[in-house]
Parts: sequence; C-alpha cells; structure tokens
Amino acid sequence: MGLDVLLGLQWGDEGKGKIVDVLTPKYDIIARFQGGPNAGHTLEFNGIKHVLHTIPSGIFRENVLNVVGNGVVIDPIIFKNEIDALTKMDVVINDKLFISKKAHLILPTHRLLDAASEKAKGKEKIGSTLKGIGPTYMDKTGRNGLRVGDILSSKFKEKYEKLKNKHIKLLEFQDFEYDLTEMEAEWFKSIEFLKTLNIIDSEHFLNAQLKEGLSILAEGAQGTLLDVDFGTYPYVTSSNTTSSGTSTGLGIAPNKIEKVNGIFKAYVTRVGNGPFPTELTDKVGEDMQKAGHEFGATTGRPRQCGWLDLPALKYAIMINGVTELSMMKADVLSGFDPIKVCTHYKIGDELYDYFPFDICDEEIEPVYIELKGWTEDLTQLDSIDQIPSTLNDFIEFLEHEVETPITIVSVGPNRTQTLLRNK
Ligand code: GDP
Ligand code: IMO
Ligand code: MG
Repeated sequence: MGLDVLLGLQWGDEGKGKIVDVLTPKYDIIARFQGGPNAGHTLEFNGIKHVLHTIPSGIFRENVLNVVGNGVVIDPIIFKNEIDALTKMDVVINDKLFISKKAHLILPTHRLLDAASEKAKGKEKIGSTLKGIGPTYMDKTGRNGLRVGDILSSKFKEKYEKLKNKHIKLLEFQDFEYDLTEMEAEWFKSIEFLKTLNIIDSEHFLNAQLKEGLSILAEGAQGTLLDVDFGTYPYVTSSNTTSSGTSTGLGIAPNKIEKVNGIFKAYVTRVGNGPFPTELTDKVGEDMQKAGHEFGATTGRPRQCGWLDLPALKYAIMINGVTELSMMKADVLSGFDPIKVCTHYKIGDELYDYFPFDICDEEIEPVYIELKGWTEDLTQLDSIDQIPSTLNDFIEFLEHEVETPITIVSVGPNRTQTLLRNK
C-alpha cells in the first residue's frame, strides 16, 4: 500500500471525519494536507462526539501516526485548545502527532484581516469562517509568511513583529476597531506549547515511511467546490482541496497516489455564500436541514440544503481522479418522496451536463429526474443486503451516471453505522 486520498466532492462537511475514522485501522499514517481550523470534522463512537479542526481524524486510534502537513495553516491557539480537549479525554498525543516545519502560522492579525476583508465586502462577503485562512495563504504566496519551523529560531520575535506591523498598516486603511493585547498574549503562550510537540521535516518523514512500505491516508478538508482553482470562485477557500493538493501539501509525488476516495452526501449542503444551483429554499429544504442536523461543526451556522447535483459531482470526480465513492447520510432522505437528482443545468435555452465557467452570475435552472424514495429507518441496518430496493435503485442509478463504484454507504453519524459494498 502507498498513498491513498480521501476528500470531499461538494462544498465541505460531507462526512470526511467519519470515514477517515472508519478507514484508519487500514493505515499506518493519517495526514492533513491543506486547510486549517476552518475545517470541522466530526467523529462519533462509544457515545462520544468529537469535532477536530486541525488534527487529523486518525488521532483516536492506536498505533497510527498523525501528520499535519506543510500545506496546512495552523492557529496555535486553536491547536492547543484541540490538544487540551483530547488530553482531557485521555487521548495520548505526544508520540503520535507530528507537525511540519513548513506549515504556515495564522497570526492574530490574520484573523483581524479576515474580518476586515469580509466587512469591506459587505453583501458580497464570502461567508468566511473568520479563522484567518485567506490572509494566511495570501502571506504564504506573497512570500511574507511565518512557518512552524520559525518558532525555533532566535529571530522569531523579530520576524513576528515585522509581519504584524505590516498587517497593522493594512488595517489602518479599513474602518475596523480591534484590541490585540489579549489575543497576542494567548498566541505566544500557545507558541511555547507548540515547541513541546514533534516538529519535523514532514516531507522527508512521509517519503521515508512510504519507502519502508507503510501506508498513508491523506485527509482532505473543505470540498472540491471550495477549491481555489476549481471551485465556485470567488466563493471558495484559499487552498487546493483537490487530490493534486496532496502533492504540494505533503511533498509526496503525484505518481505515488493510489486510491482516491471521494465523499459525497446523498443530497448537497453549503455553508457561507456563493452559488448553489440545486438549493431548496422551501419546506423540503427545511425538512432536510432538520433531519440532517445541518449546522456547521466549526461556526454553528445553518447549512443550506438541496438535491444531489450530478453535473457538479461528475466534475468533482473528474478533477480528483476519484476511484471509489462513499455516499453519506442516506438515512436522512428516509421519508422524502420523490427524491430528485439534478442531471443537467439549463442556462438560457442551452442544456449543460457539466459545470460551466460562469456559475456565479448566470441564471441556472436545474433539470431534475425523480426517483422513488424509501421510508424505512436505515440507522439500525448492519449489512448492505438489508437496504430497501428503492435505495438500491438510487445507488445503482448514481453509479451508472458517474461511472464510479460506491463502496461505502453511510447510514448514521456513528462509526458503526457504515455499510460496505464489495465492488
Ligand atoms: P466533514 O467536515 O466532512 O468531516 O463533515 P462534518 O463533520 O462537518 O459534517 C458531517 C455531519 O454529519 C457530522 O455531524 C457527522 O456526525 C454527521 N454524519 C456523518 N455521516 C452521517 C450519516 O451517514 N448520517 C447522518 N445522519 N449523519 C452523518
Ligand atoms: P470541512 O473540512 C464547509 C467555507 C466557508 C466559506 C468559504 C471560505 O469541515 O468540510 P474560509 O474560512 O476558508 O475563508 O471560508 O469556505 N468553508 C467550509 N464549508 N466545510 C468546511 O470545512 C469549510 N471550510 C471553509 O463557510 O463559505
Ligand atoms: Mg465539517
């Protein structure tokens, strides 16, 4: 086994954390390759629900190493809080968590710049999680950023002050009030804590492990439609959430990638602003939000809901080279009848079966096919042979359309509520 990838095919929150946790026993290492504390990955087992933001979702399993790769951006305060919460639950961290020296640091002023930028955008704001993600990646590509390895340098404070002062100058142009004192004190306390963890040259570490025959699962954050290149730009995040991001975000060459597991919900959700062709603003959408408990794991914001969108799903499968699919939250659709699936977009008089360039300004009318729903409660099933025939028809219809096997069907948030399909 080499490097496999697991990532979201929609606008995030597909259930990546749950499936990483389910698959972790098959791997030696779980590695995050992009994003930061904008992510919220939920895991449920033994009556516990846990939300991870920066730490890989393999952390609860024994004998598995977890790596925060160079492509990730880290807020030391949030990182420390996450580790403190895990330690309280008696999860041993020290010998199984490794952090790349090349991962970039989110400064308190990055968070201020994020908030100031959103305020300045007014009605056109992205709906950012306000964790400082955009400004941190801007400093990375602008060649100004601070990296985890810098905290070990005697010049760290000097470098920090230089970047902070640059940010303060930028904030002067904005009508934005702030008080940095408390945030800064907590940030430096957390930096001291970060120094006590395993800070490594992760690209060397990971390649050496692969050479030894160990297996790695790269855990994506956000989703394909939030990718900075291929998502619904400008309503996206600031990193490459797609499979190619594993190479830049971990330092592992593309030819080492074996399987790509694409995760999608049996419907679609989106949190934040931006286009959403199949969004339901009626009672059906409201019912979906209630049945799926669709509230953000990071910000608590309600997630908009809509029907499954095949042009978008096919696009995501193509961009990522998906080799197998996991369909999540099939249980949520119990009782919805008919179940609709968007097969095309209508723009003017033209029908499109692919994701068009201009998804933000064009009026897009989704064209639906209707499928018979199911009423059975799926949450107690323990084998794929027990699923209702209408759900089986739904799965086979999707597989035929997207030409990719669905190997996992998830029927509840718990680790155990996972049905495997042998394909
Ligand atoms: P992630 O960001 O992709 O890891 O997903 P989130 O954790 O943000 O959101 C997924 C939500 O759905 C979480 O609350 C999960 O506990 C929950 N969940 C995952 N799989 C299922 C499922 O099959 N059925 C139901 N009902 N909930 C699920
Ligand atoms: P996980 O990993 C869902 C969305 C935000 C906003 C846009 C940009 O849990 O799936 P950012 O803070 O990155 O500048 O926000 O992206 N967003 C997510 N939506 N799940 C996520 O992560 C998200 N991370 C960012 O709501 O629309
Ligand atoms: Mg999430």
